[in-house]
Amino acid sequence: ERIALAYSGGLDTSIMIKWLKDKYGADVVAITGNLGQQKEIEGLEEKAVSTGASSFHFVDLKKQFVEDYIWRALKAGALYEDVYPLATALGRPLLAKAMVDVALEENCTMLAHGCTGKGNDQVRFEVTFASLAPNMKVLAPLREWEFTSRESEMDYAIKHNIPVSVTKKSPYSIDENIWGISIECGVLEDPMVAPPEDAYQITTSPENAPDTPTVVEIEFVQGVPVSVDGKKMAGLDIINRLNELAAKNGVGRLDMIENRVVGIKSREIYEAPAATVLHFAHRELERLTLEKSVFQYKRHIAQDYANIIYNGTWFSPMRTALDAFVDDTQKPVTGMVRLKLYKGNVTLLGRQSPYSLYNEALATYTEADSFDHKAAEGFIQLYGLGLKTYSEVHPAK
Ligand code: ARG
Ligand code: SIN
Repeated sequence: ERIALAYSGGLDTSIMIKWLKDKYGADVVAITGNLGQQKEIEGLEEKAVSTGASSFHFVDLKKQFVEDYIWRALKAGALYEDVYPLATALGRPLLAKAMVDVALEENCTMLAHGCTGKGNDQVRFEVTFASLAPNMKVLAPLREWEFTSRESEMDYAIKHNIPVSVTKKSPYSIDENIWGISIECGVLEDPMVAPPEDAYQITTSPENAPDTPTVVEIEFVQGVPVSVDGKKMAGLDIINRLNELAAKNGVGRLDMIENRVVGIKSREIYEAPAATVLHFAHRELERLTLEKSVFQYKRHIAQDYANIIYNGTWFSPMRTALDAFVDDTQKPVTGMVRLKLYKGNVTLLGRQSPYSLYNEALATYTEADSFDHKAAEGFIQLYGLGLKTYSEVHPAK
């Protein structure tokens, strides 16, 4: 029998290969997905094989991640509990899907992951497995194995000659992809402790950011970014470029207490420079181009959409139904937003669109005004009539 394992090359998944082989008498197929993380992926294959994997698959998911996952989340305005752009959460269903594809190709009958029993990631993996490969057995060693500390895992590695990297262990638990970085554990578990500078992986602190601001122009077509500073670029390049510009200016640091699926409140630090800038720019363009009721209604959809991503139900009819709604709203979200990145802040300098609903002749307080002021009188009489009638019966106090 064969087990497909979501492999990262860290201590947990390294000893997991040996542990799974012993416990299930099965071969282990190690799978790593590339979601645009900067972390060293070189040498992973050698490492997986030398720790006992029968084969290693490296799946490049970057383009699909951007086009089928990130852009949908951006168009929807998906920020979990109004803050978290969902980088880790968005990556899980795609990784899980890639694992199922490899598992089928390699005739695996079991799927294994290295998530803990108190997090969201186990839910996201397993709910996706259940949708895409309902007949495969799912294994979550961290929920059942004997190791209770990093030290006991190290002892096991040494005892079984499992090479584990000697690079110094970060005091934090870090998950990274192109849409953002999630940082947990260590001193961050005390919500009153400010994140130490070393918790941040890619952003410059606002204090150390340049004294001259960076001005950036982002162009969108139907809600999807297509160019930066007038240069047409592939989605992946746009995100990389904005990560670089925003990170350098200290933009995209987030610190939140969030509600996990499993009922725990956790303190999370995120770095999401490009996501912060793109969500901001996108929403500003929507303010300019969406009809009032669509703009206001869409905020509720954004919350529902964020919950779907966070809760791991990406492969669901609810998500595709919301996509249909969102895509319809995005037809006029075409135009350009000019922003300033400066010492941790993103501010708006200007916006324009061929579908702008801003009508200067209506809005102006100058001679150029074309608004019919007389029409307001009758409107207000009828608009206030209900309340006027009510107050005759219930005088306002
Ligand atoms: N709390 C975030 C989420 O649920 C981050 C999870 C980080 N995952 C990890 N394996 N370090 O999406
Ligand atoms: C994990 O359990 O692997 C990380 C935390 C989370 O999923 O929220």
